[in-house]
Amino acid sequence: MYGMTNRIKIIFIGDVVGRSGRHIVKEKLPELKQRYGLDFVFCNAENSAGGIGITAITAKELLESGVDGITLGNHIWGQRIWLQQARQFKQVCKPLNAPAAWPGYDHVHIQQNDFSLVLISLMGQAFIQPALANPFRTIREQLPLLKDKYQTDNVIVDFHAESTAEKITMGYLLEDKVSAVLGTHTHVQTADEKILGNGTAFICDVGMTGPMNGVLGMSRDTAVERALNLMPASYRLEKDSLTGLNAVVLSLDPQTGKTINIERIQIVDNVFK
Ligand SMILES: [Fe+2]
Ligand SMILES: [Fe+2]
Repeated sequence: MYGMTNRIKIIFIGDVVGRSGRHIVKEKLPELKQRYGLDFVFCNAENSAGGIGITAITAKELLESGVDGITLGNHIWGQRIWLQQARQFKQVCKPLNAPAAWPGYDHVHIQQNDFSLVLISLMGQAFIQPALANPFRTIREQLPLLKDKYQTDNVIVDFHAESTAEKITMGYLLEDKVSAVLGTHTHVQTADEKILGNGTAFICDVGMTGPMNGVLGMSRDTAVERALNLMPASYRLEKDSLTGLNAVVLSLDPQTGKTINIERIQIVDNVFK
């Protein structure tokens, strides 16, 4: 059904933080879908429940807002109830390099008519806990199996990692092997979006979605207090009302799995940047 000139348009939204993050996704998706002609919507939702973790309620809210697939990261178990809920959500995936004992799915498969795509989450090892299995070896082993299983070259990898060097290295390992390697976790969008090789979209970090005037979405006052006093203070969401959405839009050739274009998006205070 897709001719040579058809493109699949995909938005990947960076770490959705708390209620304001979930709300701006719901509020902006209709406009984004129209503006970019979006076919599929993916997001990282490891911070969607109160800033730490995910629950069935926040997962459902995002899926009902039009999200087709959700990735997670180091905060996956921030809400312990997810241990009981993860298996209910085929559209939400844990990192592929996590222990097999972790409940839930280790990838998301999208099938619409004759279009097939695999969404994968991987976690890095540098400056991030818990240290999971080597993400480079894991993806090198698993990628051919997943491509074979679903008979597709359309693969999007969310690489949830802290170090830019580790992320760029993953980009080169997967150059021309996947459609995109999109970094998440730092919550700060980087300006290095590019196409590696002949069609692997890459960015070190997509950025975050939620309170923009805190410290990565959490209270700036608490962060400053902790830094000065070196005493425990429980993190809470930033209350400042300025909300933003950070994302990238990919233009994918569904016949080859190659990404033709990657565009960075920032919406802050209702203004597109
Ligand atoms: Fe995050
Ligand atoms: Fe994270």
